[in-house]
Amino acid sequence: MKRGRLITFEGNEGSGKTTQIRLLHRYLKQKGRSVFWTREPGGTRIGDALRRVLLDPSHGRMSAVAETLLYMAARAQLVEEAIIPRLKKGQIVLCDRWLDATVAYQGYGGGVDLGWIRSLGKAATRGICPLRTVYLDLPLGAGLARARRRGASDRMERKARAFHARVRNGYLKIARKEPLRFRVVRVSPQDPIASVHQKILKSLRDVL
Ligand code: TMP
Repeated sequence: MKRGRLITFEGNEGSGKTTQIRLLHRYLKQKGRSVFWTREPGGTRIGDALRRVLLDPSHGRMSAVAETLLYMAARAQLVEEAIIPRLKKGQIVLCDRWLDATVAYQGYGGGVDLGWIRSLGKAATRGICPLRTVYLDLPLGAGLARARRRGASDRMERKARAFHARVRNGYLKIARKEPLRFRVVRVSPQDPIASVHQKILKSLRDVL
């Protein structure tokens, strides 16, 4: 398996992940590092179109298998069009979500076969594995409330709390299986943004 300088971020709904990636991206640029920031699903024209389909609340009847395939399609496009060329250039790539999200949401949350997800994932990522993954673990209730305050909830945010609890347990299982790569950063709603940023830097110190 190829190991580029790919760093990925996962988090519960409303965990502040995007704010934190923005801060990290700025920090690395100020340090003179060549860094590229992207997200899943999205990051390409095709991926952005698939994101709209995936998150549209009027698509409430989407099957879990269809959902899995669409997330994988967006990922395959992003990897080929944007990530591989950046890794080849030696850039640090920060990606907001990765295959772990499909394992956690569609696999542990939605009951889709984990073996099937992993084999599709291998094709979609071309076997690229993040050097480090940071998972922001904000208590579920606080995160969902924060996500809902941001405006109309998307199709995933509208899923039941029990679903989000299974997703979180899924992420924690990944953390137990791959403790070197997958780091859990616990955050509480009162934590200042700057202190979460420091915790993230600490969890990335050896790979940056
Ligand atoms: P975001 O809110 O982090 O931008 O991600 C969009 C939503 O899509 C979020 O609810 C997590 C979900 N998601 C999956 O269910 N499976 C996936 O493979 C990915 C990448 C995201």
